[in-house]
Amino acid sequence: MFKTIEWTEQGVRMIDQTRLPGEEIYRTYTDYREVAEAIRSMVIRGAPAIGVAAAMGVAIGVKNSGAKNIPELRADFDVIADTLARTRPTAVNLFWAIKRMRNVFEKSLSCHHTDAAAISMVRVGLEEEAKRVLAEDIAINEAMGRYGADLMPDSGTVLTHCNAGALATGGYGTALGVIRAAVGAGKKIQVFADETRPFLQGARLTAWELAKDQIPVTIITDNMAGHFMKQGEIRAVIVGADRIASNGDTANKIGTYSVSVLAHENGIPFYVAAPLSTIDMSLASGDQIPIEERSSAEVTHLAGVAIAPRDVQARHPAFDVTPQRYITAIITERGVARAPFTDSLRALFAQ
Ligand code: MRU
Repeated sequence: MFKTIEWTEQGVRMIDQTRLPGEEIYRTYTDYREVAEAIRSMVIRGAPAIGVAAAMGVAIGVKNSGAKNIPELRADFDVIADTLARTRPTAVNLFWAIKRMRNVFEKSLSCHHTDAAAISMVRVGLEEEAKRVLAEDIAINEAMGRYGADLMPDSGTVLTHCNAGALATGGYGTALGVIRAAVGAGKKIQVFADETRPFLQGARLTAWELAKDQIPVTIITDNMAGHFMKQGEIRAVIVGADRIASNGDTANKIGTYSVSVLAHENGIPFYVAAPLSTIDMSLASGDQIPIEERSSAEVTHLAGVAIAPRDVQARHPAFDVTPQRYITAIITERGVARAPFTDSLRALFAQ
């Protein structure tokens, strides 16, 4: 089985998701700026995986810092954290992970007398924390799988959008983790994967990892989902999330909103699977979620080949917001939340 991201002696190693499914290439980064660029250019993508990469980016940045004293180290930390924070704005896991690393940084600094001792303890502490973020993410996904498997139909087709699988996380996946758990429990599920224009996470990544696991998968283009729903072929929809507001509104890959409306119209349950680190309780609603706007070249070109007239205008919002009223349930590692989400999500955090 492939590893999406890992900490090695040589540096932060990750599978290059821009090259899948054609080539299975691994990159090893020794500089935090390279890790930031890998996030920005989507060598690694998917909210929880971005969080793990940011944590490892912080750890490697501080490991390589030439700071001689605590003020210098603090200045370096700020530059590292800021560089990583400026890569992608929507997935809140990025900011969650950086904050978590900052807490460890401050805690390790506060309990040592000499600067040299503090600096070496900080390095060890951050490396351990980054590895912990990865290990916890896998365990969290497995827990989500256990809660979510019951919600999946015993047989039939489940539709997903984008890639919320092992590639988008430390491993196992959120939405695909639930599907893996359901299949593991004996359910006879096949997956319809929306192609997910323009970056093709469905066609390239979801299809690749499900096929590797021998879970039956069929690719459809994004505009086919409504047709199959109307035909009665889709039993449930399950997607991941990049940021969930405290009222349940959910930002996920562009096109998710349309799928949710279609599911609602056709009376099909629509599930979101996401860890608590994706829930941003500081936001009252999805209107406040920043939506990344990526290069229009990703729309006008496919794998580097132009598919539109030269110099034509194109837009590329990378995410949209699904209103909470279209969401049947949100599956987390602490249980399943249902409407009213303002109460049910708060209750999960209070557990
Ligand atoms: O632009 P991407 O590929 O990073 O977007 C990914 C998604 O929208 C996923 O559905 C989301 O991050 C959840 S991944 C478990």
